[in-house]
Amino acid sequence: MRTIESAYYDEEYILIVEEILDHREFQIMDTWIQHISTRRLSHLINVSYISYKIAKVLKLDSASCARAGLLHDFCLYDFHDSRYKHTKQLINHPKIASETAKEKFHLSDKEVRAIRSHMFPFGPIPTSWTGWIIQFADKVCATAEFFDGIGALNRAKHGKSRKYEALATYIKTAAEKGNPAENTSQERAQKRSGEKSPVELGPAK
Ligand SMILES: [Fe+2]
Ligand SMILES: [Fe+2]
Repeated sequence: MRTIESAYYDEEYILIVEEILDHREFQIMDTWIQHISTRRLSHLINVSYISYKIAKVLKLDSASCARAGLLHDFCLYDFHDSRYKHTKQLINHPKIASETAKEKFHLSDKEVRAIRSHMFPFGPIPTSWTGWIIQFADKVCATAEFFDGIGALNRAKHGKSRKYEALATYIKTAAEKGNPAENTSQERAQKRSGEKSPVELGPAK
């Protein structure tokens, strides 16, 4: 799934998060895959922007939703690296993300806690509206990205099988017509001279 494009054109949102988006280490997030075909940077912007919009509608703290949403998976390693056991990673990464985020950016206590609780119920219960919104937006985005990835894989598979189907039809047709390379030297000579073969001339009258 791609990044929600309207996020880039929302000047008010960009003003809140540009310090994070421009950070060199944050940009590393674009090098890792998060859900099948979605990069981590796209996932983070999606969660951040949806959380920001929800908070705006509900007249809650949209700036902290935007910032904590953007940093909720800010771990400086690939989640698919075999060195990190999957279940352990599921439980540990919110704490690692909150510590990395705190180290690189100035975050409020509410934002740090929201990052830490984003895997609820596989972790601490959210203690603020920001926390509740982020854990909800993360689940919605992860599900959408997962199904989008499955769809992309199916389309690729289907496209591939159609390609091979076309190739098989071509080979079958070519086999029925006969391989031009296997034509007799007499037929090739006839073709060159433009002379019609006895078959093309039809039966003698
Ligand atoms: Fe996460
Ligand atoms: Fe996430």
